[in-house]
Amino acid sequence: MSALTVREAGLEDAEAVLGVIHRAFGVRPVLDPPSTAMHETVESVRTVLSEAGGLLVLRRGLPVGAMIFDRSRSGLFGLRRVSVDPAHQGHGVASAMVGVAEDVAEHHGCDGVWLTAREELPETLSFWQRRGYVRIGADESSLQLGKTLPVTRTLLTAEDTRQLGTRLAGLLRAGDLLVLSGGLGAGKTTLAQGIGAGLSVRGPITSPTYAISRVHPSLLDGPALVHVDAYRLGGAAELDDLDLDASLEESVTVVEWGSGLVEGHSDDWLELRLDPVELAPGEDGRVIGVRPHGPRWVGVPLRATTLAP
Ligand SMILES: Nc1ncnc2c1ncn2[C@@H]1O[C@H](COP(=O)(O)OP(=O)(O)OP(=O)(O)O)[C@@H](O)[C@H]1O
Ligand SMILES: [Mg+2]
Repeated sequence: MSALTVREAGLEDAEAVLGVIHRAFGVRPVLDPPSTAMHETVESVRTVLSEAGGLLVLRRGLPVGAMIFDRSRSGLFGLRRVSVDPAHQGHGVASAMVGVAEDVAEHHGCDGVWLTAREELPETLSFWQRRGYVRIGADESSLQLGKTLPVTRTLLTAEDTRQLGTRLAGLLRAGDLLVLSGGLGAGKTTLAQGIGAGLSVRGPITSPTYAISRVHPSLLDGPALVHVDAYRLGGAAELDDLDLDASLEESVTVVEWGSGLVEGHSDDWLELRLDPVELAPGEDGRVIGVRPHGPRWVGVPLRATTLAP
């Protein structure tokens, strides 16, 4: 038996969930204004569990972690009262619980997850930051943190790859940065062509063999597409060092072979990774992973947009 079991909490778990919440919040420093967690009762927890659900973590059969969900925002999945029994810290309880919560959010078709955290608790904030949560707002007493969930899709044909790019383009605006990775022939340029079509920019978009980057101006009133092939840069340069003849702020920038180039230099980017997958003997398709980074993508409907029509 594995040491940790994370499961969705049923009504019969209300008492166990409340116990963990009280043990966890009971040892926190008193903040101003104080948390209302200590006012929760079996009744209040049972009500939330019946309306929105929650999680309970058992360690060797004992309840050691809990949270309750908040479904009040459409498309976004809220986590509340994220609690680990202080006597059972350092065993990965919180990480396991958050991983399952993100799976539940995905299962419910949510684009992202949000929660509130107290600025006075830097360790709590860095826990969430390490998991890709970013600040999306604040009120007098607490910060709102959010994360857009990564999406994985299977693309049966090159046309699917192109169409996905076209649908993604509907989400894009000037200043956006997209980093395309995957091996040789993975479909990066095909995806860029779809994005270009969706943005209505002047083509053709091809693998830039000699040029490192090309600017494709908008045929309408929208942003230009800057298409960069960083293959020969070897990852040593930074995007800022490229002599791009269009400003990144005014364009949508798509970088093939760009991983390693932007991490740490930009707050916001969309990572798109393509990998071949064998659909049937001798018949290759692709799997694409779309992973958003930074506050720009919080609340952006990546999941719905990347679903096949
Ligand atoms: N989902 C898919 N299923 C099958 N084939 C695909 C798919 N997507 C793209 N392809 C095909 O893969 C080939 C390579 O595509 P593409 O040139 O876009 O790859 P690339 O990643 O840009 O390559 P490079 O590494 O040379 O830059 C093309 O023949 C394209 O039609
Ligand atoms: Mg290419």
